[in-house]
Amino acid sequence: MASLTIRKLDEGVKTYLRLRSAKNRRSVEEEVRVILRELIEGREEPLTPFAAPPAASPAPPSPRTGAVAEASVTLIIGGGIAAYKSLDLIRRLKERRVDVRCVLTKAAQQFVTPLAASALSHERVYTDLFDPQSEFDAGHIRLARDCDLIVVAPATADLMAKMACGHADDLASAILLATNRKILLAPAMNPLMWNNAATRRNVAQLQRDGVVMIGPNAGEMAEAGEAGVGRMSEAIEIAVAAERLLRPPVPRPLAGKRVLITAGPTHEPIDPVRYIANRSSGKQGFAIAAAAQAAGAEVILVSGPVDLNDPDGVTVKHVESARQMLEHVQASLPVDIAIFAAAVADWRVANEGEQKLKKTSAGMPPLQLVENPDILATISKLSDKRPPLVIGFAAETEHLIDNAKAKLARKGCDWIVANDVSPATGVMGGDRNTVHLLSRKSGGEDGEIAVDSWPVMTKEQVATELIAHVVKSVADKSLEPAS
Ligand SMILES: Cc1cc2nc3c(=O)[nH]c(=O)nc-3n(C[C@H](O)[C@H](O)[C@H](O)COP(=O)(O)O)c2cc1C
Repeated sequence: MASLTIRKLDEGVKTYLRLRSAKNRRSVEEEVRVILRELIEGREEPLTPFAAPPAASPAPPSPRTGAVAEASVTLIIGGGIAAYKSLDLIRRLKERRVDVRCVLTKAAQQFVTPLAASALSHERVYTDLFDPQSEFDAGHIRLARDCDLIVVAPATADLMAKMACGHADDLASAILLATNRKILLAPAMNPLMWNNAATRRNVAQLQRDGVVMIGPNAGEMAEAGEAGVGRMSEAIEIAVAAERLLRPPVPRPLAGKRVLITAGPTHEPIDPVRYIANRSSGKQGFAIAAAAQAAGAEVILVSGPVDLNDPDGVTVKHVESARQMLEHVQASLPVDIAIFAAAVADWRVANEGEQKLKKTSAGMPPLQLVENPDILATISKLSDKRPPLVIGFAAETEHLIDNAKAKLARKGCDWIVANDVSPATGVMGGDRNTVHLLSRKSGGEDGEIAVDSWPVMTKEQVATELIAHVVKSVADKSLEPAS
């Protein structure tokens, strides 16, 4: 479900929302909910509580970087000598496509000016809890929640003490108490202040409360001749830590693995304009390729003729016939995992016409069929370059499990994904699939096969689930990467 960040809306729309929510004594978020509910129920209030909002326009790109912000931070600057570094932090965050709204404590304004913070952030700067301009709609609550992360830099001993005790007697401490967002603190203070028993207690309490800290570093203090632990982390370090909290690294369990996937039907020519085909859409194989790529694998997808867009980040080789598919599969070896989801034609026409076959009085031309190469069996039985994990698909219209068990034994692959493709299931060309994963039982009697039946799912869900099983198997077997 998409989420809506109110502060990224057009200025006119924001003003309208603030005015309307103030009039109705609701928070801006609640007001948006009410508007949406009214729209859905067809009871829309006239859209002019005070003044008509200007026509909505797309969010403008950041004036400095030209990029559209992807996240937002409320940056609280405390009253420490390191406050000057926080001006650089604003720039570092904006470089990372993070919008920054600054709050300066009263003490912070002794070290840096709101004007400097405003010029660098291209935003209004907030300093006062009892500011009638921003508090008519509880502005401190918006600053606390209408962001993705709160960063406090420098986090002074005093600010941390207030946080640990739950004070809320100024704008900064009220925001920190009212937020439900993650908080990143960059402490900065004299080493004696940092090592003081009171600060130690406060730091321990804040860590128990789930607050994340970066630094302080060891080094020279601003005070002449003093050194020790207490220097605020550099702006770049704080920006990187913030980015990690805003965009946690996506797990890539198949990083370093090469995965080969086949998908779609094959077309077996009868003559230059006619061919034998099947109803496979390629959706399942494409979804598996996308899931493997999302898991960090290098993915090669060999696809028969389909009406689908190539998945992002996947090397796609487009082929027509079974023989071309086999050629490309062989050329793609070695791989760590091979998943053969294509519906490869079992037969092709032996006497393929060089010219378009014509109707003649002699009747219908006899079509002789010959067997196509069996790609799954060929690759499963390789002595050299056999992928450590070979997965086949069994599309059956009757005796699904029995036929799939027989196929697993006959082809020599490791797993079979069996699906019922009878017309009534709508699997061929449809978006959903009901599959059974058959695999040789580890530690079981020779030839014993485990059957794992999954509920009806979308093809994307089947793909995700299959790749999750692959990830587990790779981890269990600690497969060496293909080379
Ligand atoms: C020149 C000067 C430098 C200061 N530097 C720091 C500092 O680095 N860290 C700190 O915790 N307090 C420092 N203080 C003390 C804070 O300014 C003081 O505790 C203030 O109340 C903190 O306000 P705040 O809660 O708004 O941050 C400094 C004070 C002065 C006069």
